[in-house]
Amino acid sequence: MMKATEIYAGKFHQWISFGRDPQKSDSIIDTNQYMVKSHGKAILLDPGGIELFAPMLVAVSDHVPIEDITHLFASHQDPDIISSLGLWDKALPGATLHAPWLWEGFIKHFGCESIIYDPLPDQGKSIHLEGLELQFIPAHYLHSSGNFSVYDPEAKILMSGDIGAALLESEAPMFVEDFEAHKAKMKLFHQRWMPSNTAKNQWIERVRKLEIDMMAPQHGGIFRGDDVKRFLDWFEDLEVGIASN
Ligand SMILES: [Fe+2]
Ligand SMILES: [Fe+2]
Repeated sequence: MMKATEIYAGKFHQWISFGRDPQKSDSIIDTNQYMVKSHGKAILLDPGGIELFAPMLVAVSDHVPIEDITHLFASHQDPDIISSLGLWDKALPGATLHAPWLWEGFIKHFGCESIIYDPLPDQGKSIHLEGLELQFIPAHYLHSSGNFSVYDPEAKILMSGDIGAALLESEAPMFVEDFEAHKAKMKLFHQRWMPSNTAKNQWIERVRKLEIDMMAPQHGGIFRGDDVKRFLDWFEDLEVGIASN
């Protein structure tokens, strides 16, 4: 059973994270999927791999009638992000997928016949979901060459995709509890999967201008309060693009 956690509840909108499924095979990296609901309509952020489509469908149906999921977002082209697309394509005909323009010709290999692909320009853009603004913020080369984070200025949540990812066991708590101990679980992921120090520092500069109460990555624990700043400082100091060969 996939676990659902409401991480934010505002006047008219909510954020729910899905993941931590104990039935998931250990050979597959654990992922966090997110739903943002606004006035009853929903967007799924990084809806996940094809192997978890069935438990995801069950889990999301507990929160919203399927036909009210009108939007999807894919931060980049990886299989753990969006290989479920061909099945969502059957479940949500007429929905819109917001994803990097760079990957359109690639992501469509997962199956995208009835879903409308909205190619995000390199500089990003904002959309409105029933009055709620969501900003797609450029995060190119972190780690994919066409890649975006999502910022909700109302909830002050930054969904950071693979940035801030940690490799944790599937029973791990939803939130980071001990940042110092958490660093060791993030180091390899960032050093090896992130190729560019320049891109990293540009992104840090960009997001430091935002007010962020919570940073929600696609793998591992969610950062709250001062841990967001601690993460940005740690990431800034980290040398990336390193393979041990
Ligand atoms: Fe990725
Ligand atoms: Fe990932």
